[in-house]
Amino acid sequence: MDRATRRGRFITLEGPDGAGKTTQAERVAGILRAHGKEVVTTREPGGTALGNRLRQVLLDAETPLQPTTETLLMFAARAEHVAHVIEPALAAGHWVVCDRFTDSTFAYQGDGRGIAKRDIEALAAFTHPGCWPDLTLCLDVPPATSTERMQERTLDGFEREDGGFYRRVREGFVKRAERETRIVVIDGSRALDVVTAAVQDAVEEFVRRLDAQG
Ligand code: TYD
Repeated sequence: MDRATRRGRFITLEGPDGAGKTTQAERVAGILRAHGKEVVTTREPGGTALGNRLRQVLLDAETPLQPTTETLLMFAARAEHVAHVIEPALAAGHWVVCDRFTDSTFAYQGDGRGIAKRDIEALAAFTHPGCWPDLTLCLDVPPATSTERMQERTLDGFEREDGGFYRRVREGFVKRAERETRIVVIDGSRALDVVTAAVQDAVEEFVRRLDAQG
């Protein structure tokens, strides 16, 4: 399904671990509902029964995977998610708010693990041709904030990575945002209410632009 035939809109939240995406994803859904939109919230890896099983494998800190395996499993979970959740929701005119999508694969498996970008591009074209977010909010936090905010959590395999990994992931997101106009970078290191206000502005601006287009 391409953008001309889909009726809903697809919004993703991205950024390094500990950036506060999950909290903001709920806020984004709330703002859209206040505009009268039907909203489906979901996340990656996951979003389907198989996707959640793959998520367990992918985040299991005890069984590190080859970067290639990790990349293929991310796209396997994504193929199910796009086919069973994202595309049907968009076709029904619902808005989809998704916590992470393929931009995470470029940043984590590409910049973080060293998988070639052209391979990720090929897998994306194979897995979800024509299905890209209309708007992506990338919450940017420095590696020190990521590690500081994660101190309270039981860490999964990704969250046990060192500062160098997070520096590469963060730079990956920022560089990708420079090339893709749909990605809006928001400084997530500020106080929660300031970040929330910036997220709200970006979503309201997107809805206004669409309404203006009719
Ligand atoms: P997330 O659900 O955001 O973590 P949290 O446990 O904080 O809610 O994401 C899980 C991890 O998966 C995160 O460290 C990033 C990683 N990830 C990738 O490496 N590649 C991907 O394509 C996706 C979607 C996630």
